[in-house]
Amino acid sequence: MNKQIILLPGDGVGKEIMESAKVVLNAVASEFGHRFTFHQHAIGGEAIDAYDTPLPEDTVKACKGADAILLGAVGGPKWDALPAAKRPEKGLLGIRKQLGLFANLRPIKGFNSMLHASPLKEEVIAGSDILIIRELTSGLYFGEPRERRENGNAVVDTLYYHRSEMERIIEKAFESARLRDNHVTSVDKANVLESSRMWREIVEETGKKYPDVKVDHMLVDAAAMKLITQPNYFDVIVTENLFGDILSDEASVLTGSLGMLPSASLRSDGLGLYEPVHGSAPDIAGLGIANPVGMILSAAMMLRYSFQMEEEAAEIERAVNDCLDQGYHTADLSSNGGMKVGTKEMTAAIVDSLTTKSVSN
Ligand code: NAD
Ligand code: IPM
Ligand code: MN
Repeated sequence: MNKQIILLPGDGVGKEIMESAKVVLNAVASEFGHRFTFHQHAIGGEAIDAYDTPLPEDTVKACKGADAILLGAVGGPKWDALPAAKRPEKGLLGIRKQLGLFANLRPIKGFNSMLHASPLKEEVIAGSDILIIRELTSGLYFGEPRERRENGNAVVDTLYYHRSEMERIIEKAFESARLRDNHVTSVDKANVLESSRMWREIVEETGKKYPDVKVDHMLVDAAAMKLITQPNYFDVIVTENLFGDILSDEASVLTGSLGMLPSASLRSDGLGLYEPVHGSAPDIAGLGIANPVGMILSAAMMLRYSFQMEEEAAEIERAVNDCLDQGYHTADLSSNGGMKVGTKEMTAAIVDSLTTKSVSN
């Protein structure tokens, strides 16, 4: 099967970890007899430098015709002073919006050997397995108007949601829960926000169609606390765009590092963009020490969700687990002991495990 994959490495560590994803996917291709053809395009700061825009038309066109898209990360201090419309992040928001990738799936599952890499107590996080489903193409991120007023002394951002935008993401959460532990926790701020009150109503209405799924509501401030005090409470968390952004970085603590978390951004017809949850990590960019696991697990999600290659995806996950078990740890995990390795060594160990079914140590 020949799949056309668009690669958008972006900025900072994005470029380094994208190389890792390519190497791992090539190993999967030869192990399983697939063909993956990669087409690289510009996004973010690199696109600003080359084309004076964070999202060139050519990139959007290529993504629209792709079988799937992999993205590294965008942004960095070099572009921080630019106006909002010209920032690298605008490229990422633009591609999500233009492709209609409304459902952002962020699984958080600790690897056993990483349990003590977390600053949280091992007995608190053991067994936690959470899927954060974040609405990705609406809410405060996209509502208009958004502007400075009164000679720069006042400011407005707009939190807009259409009912249909809430319905489709909430539906996705119930469907996902049916494939897991049948429990949806809807996170909102219904004690303050009108948008949250409408969200709650829709969760209640949708829940009636899924009597087998347990549903509860939690205010976002309380959810932030419960996520790190009783993570085992959660199965599927569904929430709006900004809350989902914040809660997923927080939840990464359960896995020992932000560098571990993958994500999938999907639309209903199955087109998907896959990217790690973390950013371009300017503080470590260029040093060859970034953790490639979030990116590699994102590639595994691509195989699972866009190509229905469940066995191949599971094999990548097994290989990652194997390497972590054997003590291969990038610097962000090194408080866990083990062998401190760079991005390329970590990737090579994962490929070694993929091809030999165990990593030589
Ligand atoms: P960040 O996620 O880039 O980094 C936060 C911390 O986590 C840093 O200390 C970093 O070194 C560490 N970290 C992140 N990924 C890591 C990895 N793979 N391995 C080891 N350590 C890792 O967040 P930030 O510093 O707030 O943002 C930096 C830039 O990235 C900003 O321009 C921001 O807008 C952008 N950003 C982009 C994305 C994206 O492209 N999806 C996501 C978040 C932030
Ligand atoms: C993420 C990032 C982005 C977001 C930024 C870079 C626009 O933090 O993917 O989580 O807020 O969605
Ligand atoms: Mn984020």
